[in-house]
Order: sequence, then structure tokens, then C-alpha cells
Amino acid sequence: MIRKLYLLPLLSVALFSCAEDQDNGYEDIDLSERINAGGETTIFSTTTNSFSSPAPNLSAAETDNHFVGDLLFEASFVTAPAQVNPGLGSIYNNASCINCHPRDGRARHPTNVNSANGLLIRASLFGTDEHGGPVPVPGFGLQIQNRAVSGYVPEAAYMASYTTQTETFADGTTVTLRKPNIMLTDTYLPLPPGVMLSTRLGTPIFGLGLLEEIPEANITARQDINDSDGDGISGKANFVWNPFTHQTELGRFGWKANTASVIVQCAGAYVEDMGITNPIFTLESGHGQTNGGIPGATPEVDMETLEKVALYCKTLGVPAARNTNKPEVKNGAKLFEQLDCAKCHVPKQVTGNASVAALSNQTLYPYTDMLLHDMGEGLADNRPDFMASGSEWKTRPLWGIGLTNLVNGHTDFLHDGRARNIEEAILWHGGEAEKSKNKYKNLSAKQRSDLLEFINSL
Ligand code: HEC
Ligand code: HEC
Repeated sequence: MIRKLYLLPLLSVALFSCAEDQDNGYEDIDLSERINAGGETTIFSTTTNSFSSPAPNLSAAETDNHFVGDLLFEASFVTAPAQVNPGLGSIYNNASCINCHPRDGRARHPTNVNSANGLLIRASLFGTDEHGGPVPVPGFGLQIQNRAVSGYVPEAAYMASYTTQTETFADGTTVTLRKPNIMLTDTYLPLPPGVMLSTRLGTPIFGLGLLEEIPEANITARQDINDSDGDGISGKANFVWNPFTHQTELGRFGWKANTASVIVQCAGAYVEDMGITNPIFTLESGHGQTNGGIPGATPEVDMETLEKVALYCKTLGVPAARNTNKPEVKNGAKLFEQLDCAKCHVPKQVTGNASVAALSNQTLYPYTDMLLHDMGEGLADNRPDFMASGSEWKTRPLWGIGLTNLVNGHTDFLHDGRARNIEEAILWHGGEAEKSKNKYKNLSAKQRSDLLEFINSL
């Protein structure tokens, strides 16, 4: 009897706190299952090479091909004729894949926008082309090359100016944000009126094969184009022209999900970023300034090269989540749900059957729904890309983000690298994510720090 009386208050306290958790719908999240962020492709190494290891579950032959792809990714191209890696230019943005995706990670926002760096500018005119895509600018195309090999002139020079704005938290703390405005100067031809520009930075490239193998139906099922559930968050798939398969397909890659597959992204990178023609893009984008890639000529890289470099991007392992037992990280994970971050940065995805067995039927934790969201005026580039409007961007995967500083020595985030850390990236969220941002601003300093610790554990 005495014993029962003694237990009762304890029991009711336990029941009460449990009920409270259930009221919010935010019980403790079991983070242990999320440690293997890339399923069986997960890499358990917290070093500067965390983004650069082949998935451990590849076959021996695939691993060999992965390493061939690795060399291709690192190859620095030079002007033809040359013994190795000829074909750079005539005009280009950078001479190797790795220069824009350092250590298979993320490019920093450059201090000198015309140095060899990971930033490029896409361009188009109002309207859509015959496939619903952006309209090339006559004489310039869809990307502005700011470098040229000897004997040719760059299309333009990039120029950056910055504006600042201040955000104030509920507790009075202020953060000053910077916004880069990138413009073109010294264009080799007069630029026609109405050119729309979009600044983009080189992204991390691990885990892409998994993202490519998420069944399309799983992605489109999350669309809520008219926000019928009324939570302020819609989400829309991009559908883009695939110049390899010659059909319209779900867009998965690029900051606006503007590319359907890894191999097309790689082929586009060769021709637009480096001036290297290939079997998917046989013509140079030099608009009269060509040093190769004339109609009918053999492409400067062959299909095997494209396939190997794409295999490399698809089969880089995903770094494991860390510190999942820390109370701060656990609390941060709950806040991530409470602030509705997880509605777009959907933690869990699965893959279906894939031609690379290592990518088949995996459970992954990329923290993306692969959908476009209206992120508001602040982030808008005002340049539509297929079905993505001027203010829509694809939810970025957050896996590996906490290792950016270790691997890349900086924490420049968002499509143009304007955010200098994760907190600034959150403060740029507007549009469908405005409510999430405002909830973040209302957190205490301790809660903010816990949320950031959680993101840094990914
Ligand atoms: C001038 C810098 C630059 C070079 C050179 C470059 N990239 Fe990229 N890469 C980017 C940028 C910027 C993006 C984002 C593009 C977008 O949003 O449209 C990107 C995106 C990608 C993506 C998609 C990543 C994702 O998560 O959506 C892949 C894959 C990729 N690049 C592979 C390559 C390969 C392979 C090469 C070499 C053949 C290469 N890149 C060369 C800058 C570069
Ligand atoms: C409505 C959908 C949506 C919501 C809600 C949302 N995000 Fe995002 N998030 C995005 C999109 C889209 C981007 C890419 C924006 C860009 O680059 O311009 C992004 C980018 C980020 C980045 C930078 C990633 C990178 O690779 O540069 C971080 C960090 C981030 N979000 C964290 C959060 C956190 C934390 C929350 C909750 C407070 C949150 N997000 C809520 C859609 C969302």
C-alpha cells in the first residue's frame, strides 16, 4: 500500500511528460538509424577526404571504374593539340571538374569572381524553348563563359557587388546578411535587353547515384502544388528535357533540379563549363568562337569517358552522421521537426532497383524531398528553368553539410554561396519557408545552438 502511494506521483509525472510529447507530436527521434546516411554506401571517416571515398559496397570492377572516373574528374584540360586532356575552350569557366567541386565538395563564394573558381552564371531570355526550357541568349547561349584560351575572347567578365541586410532574433541578437549581385561587364558583343542571369556555385557530388535512384513516384507523391493541406508549404517537381534520352523527365540535379540525370549533368559540364564536346553535346557553345566541335567532327571526349565520370559521381560514398547521442543533437533533431524544416528537408528516402547493385534498395537520409519550393524574393534569381520559377529552388540535401568546413575550409552555403554559415542560410529562407525562419528567430540562444549542432551532425 505504502509502496503504491509512493509510486503514484512518479507515474503520473512520467505519463504527463509523455502526453506532452505526444501533444506536440514530437517524441524523441531515434537518430541511430540515420547514422548510415547513405545506407550501405556510407563512409565512416571524418577527415578532409570524407566526400572522396568510393562506396564500400561496390564490386571490384565497379571500384576500378570508379577510380578511372576519379582521374577523369581531376584531369586538367589544356588547349588542343596536346598529348593529354586536349580540347579546353575556346571559351570556358574552369579547366577541371575538381576545381569547381573541390575534394568532391563545395566551392566557396570567391573573393575574385573571375579567378578560376566554382562559380558560374547561367543566362537566358524571357520565354521557353521548344522543350519548355530556357531560351538561349543569341551570341551567348545559356551560360556565360568568363575565360578563354589564347586567341579567343571571353564572353564577358563577371562583376560582384554586395548589399547587406540585418535580421533580428526575438532575444535581440542581430545577424547581418550579405547578398551578392553578380553582373556582366566587358561583354564581347552588346548584350541584348532582358537577359536573365542566375549565379550558381559548385555543389558536393557524393551520393548522387542514390538520389538518381529514388523512385520517381516517391518524389511526385510529395508534391502539393496548390498547398491543399494548407500548411504553407507546397512543393513541385521539375520536369526537364533530357537531351540524352530525348524526352521530358523528372529533374533531379542542379540547384533548380534543372537536369534529369548525372550523366547529362556531366556532359553539360564538359561542354559548357570547360568547352569540351562529347557524344551528348557535340557542338561547342562558342558561337562562332570554336576551336573544335565543328559539326561532324569527333567529340573531344567519348562515351566511355562520360560514363566513367558519371559513375564516379554516382558512387562516391555518403559520410555517416556523427554525435547522434549528444543531448544537444537529439534536441536539435526535434526542433528540426517542430520548425517544419523536415517538411522540405525530408530526412528519409529509399532507392529502387538500380543497374549498379550497390545503389539498389538502399535506405538513405539525404534530408531532401527533391522538389522545388518558392523561397521568396530574397533568394530569387528571377530566371525560370523549365518548370522552376524565378523564386523556386530544389530543397538541398543536408547530408554531409556539417563536414563542409573540415573538407572545404569554408561554410559558404546556398546556390550562390551568400550564406557564410548555416545560421545565415536559415535566415535567407523566405516564401514557403518564411514560417520556419520566423520560428527559428523566436528560439532561445540554446535552442538555436542545438538546432545548428544537429545540422552539423549530418
Ligand atoms: C565552372 C565550375 C564547374 C565545373 C568546371 C564543373 N562543375 Fe559541376 N557544377 C557546377 C555548378 C555551378 C553546379 C550547379 C549547376 C546548376 O545548378 O545548374 C554543378 C553541378 C554538378 C552536378 C550536379 C550536382 C547536384 O547535386 O545536383 C554534377 C554531377 C557535376 N556538377 C559534375 C561535374 C563534372 C563531372 C564536371 C567535369 C566534367 C563538372 N561538374 C565541372 C560547377 C562546375
Ligand atoms: C519550403 C521548403 C524548406 C523549408 C521549410 C526549409 N528549407 Fe532549407 N532549403 C530549402 C531550399 C529550397 C534550399 C536551397 C535554397 C537556395 O540555395 O537558394 C534550402 C537550403 C538550406 C540550407 C543550405 C544548404 C546548402 O547546401 O547550401 C540549409 C542549411 C537549410 N536549408 C536548413 C534548413 C533549416 C534548418 C530549416 C528549418 C528552420 C529549413 N532549411 C527549412 C527548402 C526549405
